[in-house]
Amino acid sequence: MERTFLAIKPDGVQRGLVGEIIRRFETKGFTLVGLKFLQVSRELAEQHYDVHRERPFFAGLVEFIISSPVVAMVWEGDGVVASARKIIGATNPLTSEPGTIRGDFGINIGRNLIHGSDAPETAQKEIALWFKDEELVNWQPHLTPWLH
Ligand code: TYD
Repeated sequence: MERTFLAIKPDGVQRGLVGEIIRRFETKGFTLVGLKFLQVSRELAEQHYDVHRERPFFAGLVEFIISSPVVAMVWEGDGVVASARKIIGATNPLTSEPGTIRGDFGINIGRNLIHGSDAPETAQKEIALWFKDEELVNWQPHLTPWLH
């Protein structure tokens, strides 16, 4: 079953949007298989955003991610990687569609509330970076037959 890595960034936590954001993935029908609340280390933040290391926004992005706690999650379901990206919305909240998380709650590209893996291969790498195997729960909600 496909899995994706999502993280509610410091702004989402500070603004009290954790419940609202989790609700959107829950009510869509995806399954939560990993969840933790943590203060991110500089090393983890730099590894997570390694592809952006040479970009001008990298240093500020890392400072932001380590500035305050985040909620790290793994969600499971058919097509969850692409679907979660749709639920999250485009990178710049000013152009994200209304109805998406970023479109509904954000203004600034540097404060766009949530991270979501951009492809299944990236998701596997990010899940391995953020979670130990034993922190992920293998289970199926009993509601599944009503969704499929
Ligand atoms: P990116 O991986 O391009 O976007 P997404 O989070 O939608 O996959 O960029 C990672 C994060 O870097 C993005 O969520 C916000 C930040 N960022 C900036 O601050 N300025 C920028 O110009 C870009 C492209 C990204």
